[in-house]
Amino acid sequence: MTEPSYLTATRAGYDSFAAEYAEAAADELGEKPFQLAMLAEFAERVRSAGAGPVADIGCGPGRVSAHLASLGVDVFGLDLSSEMIALARRTYPGLRFDVGAMPDLDLADASLGGVLAWYSVIHLPPELLPAAFAEFRRVLVPGGHLLLAFQVGDEPLHVSEAFGHEVALDFHRLRPERVSDLLEDAGFRVDARLVRGPHDPGTSETRLTERMPQAYILASAPA
Ligand SMILES: C[S@@+](CC[C@H](N)C(=O)[O-])C[C@H]1O[C@@H](n2cnc3c(N)ncnc32)[C@H](O)[C@@H]1O
Repeated sequence: MTEPSYLTATRAGYDSFAAEYAEAAADELGEKPFQLAMLAEFAERVRSAGAGPVADIGCGPGRVSAHLASLGVDVFGLDLSSEMIALARRTYPGLRFDVGAMPDLDLADASLGGVLAWYSVIHLPPELLPAAFAEFRRVLVPGGHLLLAFQVGDEPLHVSEAFGHEVALDFHRLRPERVSDLLEDAGFRVDARLVRGPHDPGTSETRLTERMPQAYILASAPA
């Protein structure tokens, strides 16, 4: 079967600038306390449920997987980009990273205690979000937890150059209310939604500039 063009283009983009992205993102989590707070709450929930590992889907260079591991979470990473996976394996040799793509996950039903999709569903065409969320629900145990992060907005951003590389990447900004509705349609309960303003680029030491509000949604699969 021919691969959909959005997967081919997204993989090619992230393969081309994996190293530059990893460097730019290296210290970003620590600069943004609301991100750390949502990740801490997610970690606490999956740890106390003790219901299986967390998959960090769209893990990129593995920095968020490593952060969760530092909080005592049993976590592995999955990503479309084999360059990202190779880099994550080199950087965090103690953690497991596999190549894999949304929306169709090569994971067994009810095999995970948590799913993290940290700025990764933004690259799915929005009409595929219901399929992705149904997959997240399928692979989670009852009582499992999901954390999503994405940029808020209505208009997609098309990027043709990143870190000096020619790419063809689409970033789909999303509305938290719409995402919550889709999660509920997929059988999730939405437990918390956080929308924060863009981080002041003047105080950022990384190159991951934010132009719009950022959203974080914590949801759970009813027990
Ligand atoms: C903005 S980066 C975020 C990476 C990581 N979560 C982080 O915060 O550092 C988006 C990542 O999602 C991955 N990705 C995009 N679409 C994907 C898909 N359909 N399945 C799996 N991974 C995907 C990309 O390869 C990329 O590594």
